[in-house]
Amino acid sequence: MAGMIPRQFIDDLLARADIVELIDSRVPLKKAGKNYQACCPFHTEKSPSFSVSQDKQFYHCFGCGEHGNAISFLMEFDRLEFPDAIEELASHYNMEVPREQNNQSPAQLKQQQQVHQQKQDDYELMEKISRFYQQQLKVATDKDSAIDYLKGRGLSGEVVKRFGIGYISDAWDGMMNHFAKNPQTTQQLVDLGMAIPGDKNRPYDRFRGRIQFPIRDKRGRVIGFGGRVLGDGTPKYLNSPETRIYHKGHELYGLFEAKQANKQLSRLVVVEGYMDVVALAQHGVDYAVASLGTSTTPEQCQTLFRTVKEVICCYDGDRAGRDAAWRAMENALPLINDGTSLKFVFLPDGEDPDSLIREKGQQAFEEILDNATPLSVFLFDHLSLQVNMSTLEGKSKMIELFQPYLNKLPDSTLKDSILTELANKFARGNEKRLDELRKKNNQNNKASTVKKQSKITPLRLAIALLLEHPHIISALPDITILQQLDMPGIPLLNRLLVLCKQNSEINSAQLIEHFRGTTEGSQLTKLMCLQHHVEPENAESMFIDVIESFLNKFIEQRTEQLLAKEHASGLSKNEKQELHALLSA
Ligand code: UTP
Ligand code: MN
Repeated sequence: MAGMIPRQFIDDLLARADIVELIDSRVPLKKAGKNYQACCPFHTEKSPSFSVSQDKQFYHCFGCGEHGNAISFLMEFDRLEFPDAIEELASHYNMEVPREQNNQSPAQLKQQQQVHQQKQDDYELMEKISRFYQQQLKVATDKDSAIDYLKGRGLSGEVVKRFGIGYISDAWDGMMNHFAKNPQTTQQLVDLGMAIPGDKNRPYDRFRGRIQFPIRDKRGRVIGFGGRVLGDGTPKYLNSPETRIYHKGHELYGLFEAKQANKQLSRLVVVEGYMDVVALAQHGVDYAVASLGTSTTPEQCQTLFRTVKEVICCYDGDRAGRDAAWRAMENALPLINDGTSLKFVFLPDGEDPDSLIREKGQQAFEEILDNATPLSVFLFDHLSLQVNMSTLEGKSKMIELFQPYLNKLPDSTLKDSILTELANKFARGNEKRLDELRKKNNQNNKASTVKKQSKITPLRLAIALLLEHPHIISALPDITILQQLDMPGIPLLNRLLVLCKQNSEINSAQLIEHFRGTTEGSQLTKLMCLQHHVEPENAESMFIDVIESFLNKFIEQRTEQLLAKEHASGLSKNEKQELHALLSA
C-alpha cells in the first residue's frame, strides 16, 4: 500500500497550481470582472453561471452548486480519485508526489521509493513499446497486410491513431530486438508480460504477428496490450497477463479514450471486446468501454458509476451473455441510487456491437441503447424464470427470491417502485410476506435532505470571510483568547485561525484542502459559497467587528461564570483580579 500523501505537499502543490490555467485548459474561460466565467461543465446551460476565482483558487457554479479547488476540479472533471488527481496536478508542475511513511525503517522507506521509481520506469517503457507498435504500422515490411486488415474492419486512420492501435510482425524478437538492450530491461520486459522467459533463458516476444491494442489506465498510461491475429489463428486475442502495473479486473478498455472524446460524458456502454469499443467509436458512439474479461467486477462497476450516472451493459443474447449481465448486475446493485441507472441490451443471435453498428449505423444503434431494458425489468424477467408464476406458491417464492437483491439495493425511488410492483403483481395471498419485505426495506428510509442556503450568522460570516481572505488574520493581534469561548462553531473557527497564523501566505484552496472528506470540510465548502455581499475592501473591518463581538461575548460569559462562582464558593485572588479587569473592560 502506498502511504498517505503528506499534507505539506498538498499545500505546496495548491500554492503552485493555478486553477484558472488548469480549468481554462479544459473549459475555455472568459474574464468577467475579477473572476473568470464559462458555461458550467457539470450541467447543461446556455448562459454561464460557472465562476472561477483566481484569488480564492476556487470555482463555484451558481446554477448547480458544484464547487471546489484545483484538486476537486480534477476529481470531478477528469473523474479521478483523490490520489490520482494529486498525481495529475503534480505532473503538470513536474513535482513528484511523496508518500508519508509512518514508523517506517529507512530500509522500508527506500524500498517504497524503489517501487515508485520502478512503476514510473514501467509506464515509460510501455509507452515506448506502444509507440513502437504504432510505428510498425508504417514501416514493417508486411505492414500492408496489417493496414488492409484494419481497413477491412472499417477503421479509419484517425480512429486507429486515437486508440493507439499498432502492429507487430510475426517474429520471435521483433520487439525484444528493439528494447532488450541489457539484462535489466530484459527482465523488466518479462515482468511486464511483454516477453516470455523461454527455456534457455532467452526471452522472446509474447505478441507476434498481431494487431496491438494498448490498454490504458484512466490517466492514459499504457499498462498492457491486447493483440489480435490477422487471420484465423488461435488464440484470436492474446492479452497481457497480470503484472505489477496491470490488474485486468480493475481496468476498463477505452475509458480514457471515452473521457478524452467527451467533455460531458453522461453515459457509458459496456461491451465485450476491443474491436467493439473501437468500431463503436468509429461510428460515433465514442462512449463504449470493454470489461476485459467475461464479467464486470465490483471494481469496474465502481469506476463506471464514479464516472457516469447511466451505464448500459451490452451483451450477447445467448445464455452466456445473460449470465454475464446477471453477474454485472449483482456487482452493481449496491451502487444504484436515485440519479444512477443501469440498463441492459441483449443483442440478436450472431451479432456483436461491432457488426451491428456497421450494419445499421449510429442512429439505429443509439435507438437500441435508448430502449435498453431497465434493471427492474431485467430482475423480474430473470427471477420469474425460476418459479411457476401461475401458482400461489410460485408467487410467494418470487417475493422470497427478490429479498437478497432488494437488500443490496440502497434506498431509492427505484427500490420503492420495485416494492410497489411486487405488491401489485403478487399481493393476493402474500400480504404477510410483502409486509415483512416492506418493513425490512423501509426502516432506513429517511426524508431526503433539501439543499438550501445557510442562514448568515456572525460565526458563519466570520468563517466565510476568513476563507475568502485568509490574509485578514494579520489584522488580529491575539487569537488565543477565543479558544475559551464556549459557542458552537468556535473550535472550527479557531482551527482556521491557527492555520492562517501558521502560514501567512495560505490561500482559500489550501485552507479548504485541510478538511477534505470531513464534516467540517463540507460545512466549509458551503460557507465558501455563502452569499454575504461583503465587498472585498470591507472584508477586514467586517471580520474584526465580528471577532470583537465574539470577544465581548466571551467577556460576558466569563464574567457571569466568575460572578456565579463568587456567589457560590468565593473566588481565588487571581480570579478576583480577573473579574475586576473584566468588569472594567
Ligand atoms: P469475441 O470472441 O466476441 O471476439 O471476444 P470479438 O470481440 O468479436 O473480436 P473480433 O470481432 O472477432 O475481432 C470478445 C473479447 O473476449 C476476449 C477479448 O477481450 C475479446 O475482445 N477474448 C476473446 C480473448 O481474450 N481471447 C480470445 O481468444 C477471444
Ligand atoms: Mn466481433
